[in-house]
Amino acid sequence: MATATEHLHGIEAKDFLPLNGTDYVEFYVGNARQAAYFYRAAFGMRLVAYAGPETGLRDRASYVVQQDKIRLVLTTPLRPGNAIADHIAKHGDGVKDIALWVDDAVSAWRETTRRGARSVREPWVLKDEQGTVRMSTIATYGDTVHTFVERQDYRGTFLPGFQQVQEDHVSRPVGLKYVDHVVGNVGWHEMNAFVDFYRDVMGFEMFQSFDDKDISTEYSALMSKVMANGNGRVKFPINEPAEGRKKSQIEEYLEFYNGPGVQHLALATDDILTTVSKLREQGVEFLRVPDTYYSELEDRVGKIDESVEDLKKLNLLVDRDEEGYLLQIFTRPVEDRPTVFFEIIQRKGGRSFGKGNFKALFEAIEREQRLRGNL
Ligand code: FE2
Repeated sequence: MATATEHLHGIEAKDFLPLNGTDYVEFYVGNARQAAYFYRAAFGMRLVAYAGPETGLRDRASYVVQQDKIRLVLTTPLRPGNAIADHIAKHGDGVKDIALWVDDAVSAWRETTRRGARSVREPWVLKDEQGTVRMSTIATYGDTVHTFVERQDYRGTFLPGFQQVQEDHVSRPVGLKYVDHVVGNVGWHEMNAFVDFYRDVMGFEMFQSFDDKDISTEYSALMSKVMANGNGRVKFPINEPAEGRKKSQIEEYLEFYNGPGVQHLALATDDILTTVSKLREQGVEFLRVPDTYYSELEDRVGKIDESVEDLKKLNLLVDRDEEGYLLQIFTRPVEDRPTVFFEIIQRKGGRSFGKGNFKALFEAIEREQRLRGNL
């Protein structure tokens, strides 16, 4: 494996930023208590930790909800005139921080900032009786940040300062396992600048790319490049809008989010039929593709383990690549602005992102855009 010293003189250092995975994803929301209820009752997350006025915070409350390796932090401001309240006024509910689990938060900050990352917060230390956590934060697209979290000296539930929550009677687990990828939407002609950022500043490599010929419908188009870290545990597709006859879903996002930001989080399961059945029962709303999608399915993807009838019932999508196939489905936006949504994905060898579904899917999105008067 390459080491940090190999970076000099243009030799690409692949492991100057070793990442163990996604640590947590923090949303800034208008009402964290209610958002937490939604993620517990609908998405099956378990409330595991809390920080707020009762724990000595004066300006915010944060709820930590978890399912297997997926950890979301839902944070709301208690007063106006601060960075959290300003973020919500500008963007609505959305993702502030895609936090990454590292072994050395100081080195992660040093290596990325010396390669050009903008520092948001220099390394700091949090302590309580359960141990020590070191963190540092850099900026990425829009107002979104990456916090590096070093927690090998910590035994607590989440972070120092958070109170553990013992039991959750609201949570209805659905079998979600880990964050598969997190997609960012950036502005016109900005994709390559962020591809360069993830390559040069964070040591990622391009994993896949799609142009507007892959991803276009009659009305709208987008381009996308997928950046992945060295061990492949962290994957960040970056989308930008492309010229189409009408306003693309990316432009609609950029207008309502007021700039670049996280478009969707893909959550992985080992049993998408069960997971999506439960999510539907619990009120999660998904995009629909027309039934004709299923009449052509086996011709397109070949033999699969699941019955097409079952897939059709749940409106699941399938795509195949050289290594296998994947099953996926997309929720409607989870807030009133047409911004952040979720993907549920099960990989059966397939390592791609569902290119074969883009057209059917974007037509489904466009039907909803039209209903919102934004097409
Ligand atoms: Fe995705």
